[in-house]
Amino acid sequence: MSATAAPHPPQLTLPGQAHTAEGPLDMSGMYLMHHAFRRDLVRLAAAVRATPLDDGEVWRALADRWQRFAMVLHHHHSTEDDDIWPLLLAHADVSGDARARRTLDEMAAEHGTLDPQLDACSADLAAMTRAPDADVRARLAERLATLRDGLHTHLAHEESAALPLAQQHLSPAEWRTAEDAAKRAYRPRELGFLIPWAAEGLDAAARDRAFAGAGLLFRVLYRLTRGRFRRAERTVFRYA
Ligand SMILES: [Fe+2]
Repeated sequence: MSATAAPHPPQLTLPGQAHTAEGPLDMSGMYLMHHAFRRDLVRLAAAVRATPLDDGEVWRALADRWQRFAMVLHHHHSTEDDDIWPLLLAHADVSGDARARRTLDEMAAEHGTLDPQLDACSADLAAMTRAPDADVRARLAERLATLRDGLHTHLAHEESAALPLAQQHLSPAEWRTAEDAAKRAYRPRELGFLIPWAAEGLDAAARDRAFAGAGLLFRVLYRLTRGRFRRAERTVFRYA
């Protein structure tokens, strides 16, 4: 490190995280989202197995909650596919890093495998709200377990192989630009879900660290939205 280089920011390491990539980029936002995706799929898979067929209120709440999860995951993958991986690939190619190209091709392929699984789960959950059926629930439980395991594997791969490449090749300004674009793409109503959702299950220290770089608006919105979020969660996960 040169005498003028800024010290690397402290990184967030959350439960389930496969690897923490040290370097100049603050990856708190990325790790926060990954933690929430892992947590959600474990809980959603358990809720689908445990919810009685005749509790229509909870199936409707589960289907609505699923759509919100899928919206955030889709948004997260789009940001990576459109704003982060291509920029990273351009830098890696300039430095002749063939390993980076292989890794980023694998990231795109894994996103492509997960997308149809998400669609199939969406269709099954919608069917459960129209006509609850034991066979559909059994199929959905299988699909969610497969998706849970596949997403966990993908996130671990991204954390161990792709995020270290981002630390190596991207500048903090490029990373912040991608993160800012990702935040701006959420509508205010979606932010009202995203913020308490992202913080759920973290202890106060991890939450403060995760929100430190997100600005005052995020912290205010968290205080305003967490009560409503938690009430809704109690219905969604009544049996989980
Ligand atoms: Fe990611």
